[in-house]
Amino acid sequence: MATGTTLSGAYPLGSRINDRGVLEIGGCDTLELAREFGTPAYVVAEDDLRARARTFLTAGRASDQQEVQVVFASKAFPCSAVLALFAAEGLSCDAASGGELHLALAAGFAPERVVLHGNAKSEAELRMALRHRVGTIVIDNFDEIERLRALIAEGALGDRPEGQGVMIRIAPDVRGETHEKISTGQADSKFGFSMADAAEAIERVSDSAGLSMLGLHAHIGSQLLELDPFRRAALELARLGEFGVLDIGGGLGVQYTEEQPSPPSIEDYVGTLVEGVRAGGFGAEGRLLIEPGRSLCANAAVTLYTVESVKQNVSRWVAVDGGMSDNLRPMLYGAGYEAQLAGRFGDSTECVLAGKHCESGDVIVRGARLEDPRPGDVVVTPATGAYGFAMANNYNGVPRPPVIFCRDGDARVVVRRESFEDLTARDVG
Ligand code: LLP
Repeated sequence: MATGTTLSGAYPLGSRINDRGVLEIGGCDTLELAREFGTPAYVVAEDDLRARARTFLTAGRASDQQEVQVVFASKAFPCSAVLALFAAEGLSCDAASGGELHLALAAGFAPERVVLHGNAKSEAELRMALRHRVGTIVIDNFDEIERLRALIAEGALGDRPEGQGVMIRIAPDVRGETHEKISTGQADSKFGFSMADAAEAIERVSDSAGLSMLGLHAHIGSQLLELDPFRRAALELARLGEFGVLDIGGGLGVQYTEEQPSPPSIEDYVGTLVEGVRAGGFGAEGRLLIEPGRSLCANAAVTLYTVESVKQNVSRWVAVDGGMSDNLRPMLYGAGYEAQLAGRFGDSTECVLAGKHCESGDVIVRGARLEDPRPGDVVVTPATGAYGFAMANNYNGVPRPPVIFCRDGDARVVVRRESFEDLTARDVG
């Protein structure tokens, strides 16, 4: 394949193969990026992030719901530059821990636009949220209600007659088709109140001085490729009572490979959620929150690797300089990815794209097809913008990759590569 090759939908918007036959992301030649910044590297098309944020906002405005608030689930790509970009685009932010709250505030999200999640929030995290006056705390369990009441009783709310805005998380007993590890809406979930406990939770929160009951939340799972479970969850949630706010979580799936079914469009997704809550009795004037993570950032980035070795036994093994330290998803969820040589798209050679870590499970793509891969070649895997950087680790003492933003042919490092010194930086004895 050469110039004119159509890239799969897994690649960032605006990607192309240039006249030299090399993949360009955000107008930048990926072989030049690899030379300049080294590999492995996360390469992000900045315009792609912006475009998807705008598509969500526009879809919300076009819907017949008066307000659709788009809340970026920061866990998907908790990188300050990404957060700052989404803050500037007018999104809100979902933080699932004190650390994510810290990142969100540091990146410029107004505290009232932050939604704090967590099924095991510590007292320190709740204190932090109260101190910063985050707009919404999503309460997950009865212990959390008591913990909040105790903190408020001792004055942690400060001078806020309006109280702390809270929502109650419900597991609506709706299961979407996805990997078991990222399914959350089922009755036996570690997240939220059961449908049976919902009424009592609502009552207890409503009776709590200092807590301002805004509405209900549900998040049924992630990488969902069908809309019906979203519609059902939205309907179930809206049926639980009359509230001014509903938050239906995230979960819209994305294109990882050409073989998988295509995800629904953002417009259809938002339309379905609105239709669902309205069918459940939610008023047009109600505020609907959605919390996309993956669908805002997965396809905006690719990872670049360098081939270190090629060997043949039963299979042809192409080993690169990264793997499960920069992308855990294939190992954790059996997630499929595409791979190509950045400078030579083609499919002549069936191979196993393996990582450099010391375990056999460290395989990035099984059944990859690359064009005669050799040591020194740059390999690209698209759709690594969500939960790649987020779940990166230092297994085998491998430093984590940099994040490079690309736009109109200009590249800038927004997170530097980790150094060996970073690996010992926390040692105190
Ligand atoms: N809201 C809540 C409360 C969530 O728990 C999540 C994701 C989201 C929103 C965003 O979901 P998304 O739109 O990204 O599907 N590490 C896994 C994904 C875990 C998702 C956890 N919660 C993966 O790599 O697939």
